[in-house]
Amino acid sequence: MKILVTGGLGYIGSHTAVALQQAGFEVLIVDNMSNSSIDVLEGIATITGVTPQFKYLDLRDKEEVHHYFKTHRDIDGIIHFAASKAVGESVEKPLLYYENNLSTLVYLLQECTKYDIHNFIFSSSCTVYGEPDSLPITEDAPVKKATSPYGNTKQISEEIIFDTTQVSDIKAIALRYFNPIGAHESAEIGELPLGVPQNLVPFITQTAIGLRDQLSVFGNDYSTPDGTCIRDYIHVMDLAEAHVVALQRLLEKKNQVAFEVFNVGTGKGSSVLEVIQAFEKVSKKPLNYKVVDRRPGDVIAVYADTSKANSDLGWEAQRDLEEALRSAWQWEQKVRANKKEN
Ligand code: NAD
Ligand code: WQD
Repeated sequence: MKILVTGGLGYIGSHTAVALQQAGFEVLIVDNMSNSSIDVLEGIATITGVTPQFKYLDLRDKEEVHHYFKTHRDIDGIIHFAASKAVGESVEKPLLYYENNLSTLVYLLQECTKYDIHNFIFSSSCTVYGEPDSLPITEDAPVKKATSPYGNTKQISEEIIFDTTQVSDIKAIALRYFNPIGAHESAEIGELPLGVPQNLVPFITQTAIGLRDQLSVFGNDYSTPDGTCIRDYIHVMDLAEAHVVALQRLLEKKNQVAFEVFNVGTGKGSSVLEVIQAFEKVSKKPLNYKVVDRRPGDVIAVYADTSKANSDLGWEAQRDLEEALRSAWQWEQKVRANKKEN
């Protein structure tokens, strides 16, 4: 079975490529390397023993996308990761986000209808829920008005996919990721943020390694037990494995409706201070941090109700917060050691 992984050189795509190959799928990757590098292919090959077929492709180029599908007629399914993902940047450059996250999706779905590709998995986000009315969040919780163009692209994407599945043979699953962290246990692949990390865990590991002076904790006066925000941090390999079972559900036609959504999280919320403490425990290093003002736009608490994924996909997260942080720390150490050598 041949599976096209768009954005397969990126953080989640590369870990999913590993999980797919280990489950026996043949992986084809397209990527424009706007937020990744070709070295990732080597990492995937080292772990799995197989180098995925790779093509440089900018999915915004409709002609090139068409040419790709015309010359690859035997694709059984698509997992679509390719997108821009920085929330703050999306506020500054909304059109870049609407173009990159929406036009690419439309072009791919057009090719699916032309070439009878019926299985489609989409990277959605818990950001579609905004500030939830109750916790843990189930999939039928209302989708709130997005607070950023990035979040809006995820909501619109889900609608585009839903509408398409109603008038075509395409069956689709949107996985709403909570907060992916960590790296493959081999430390051959991991997260590689460009510039100053916006997300908590890469900022923690870069601070611990000495690349940043201090972690700013954004607010400790929220209505949570320790005053800091709560998130559902999921190990990226658990997330990767969720894609494999979602794909199998589509291929085995076990889906109940043409478009399904699933929360992919651990079901457990952790506060920023709890993450810091867990990191200090696994790294055996004290972390230099300071509480500063709240970051505008942060929701107070989000964590998933994963019962739908547990029952329908037969999936649940296997790795805990400490294991995820340990892998993130091993990855950071390896990346910096390699940088020093070069
Ligand atoms: P990433 O930036 O590491 O990976 C995305 C990949 O897509 C990159 O390799 C990039 O070069 C590629 N890409 C971007 N635009 C492209 C284009 N026009 N043509 C071809 N390739 C293109 O991001 P990630 O963290 O792996 O996220 C993957 C998906 O998951 C995204 O859709 C993101 O919105 C979604 N998501 C991520 C998170 C998270 O916290 N990382 C959470 C929820 C949802
Ligand atoms: C986690 C917690 C911060 C950095 C973002 C996107 C979301 C999704 C995942 C794609 C928050 C706190 C952070 C720092 C801190 N992506 N923090 N100091 O905000 O839950 O979600 O990534 O879909 O759409 O918005 O993740 O890692 O940025 O923050 O105190 O330097 O850590 O305030 O409470 P977030 P995050």
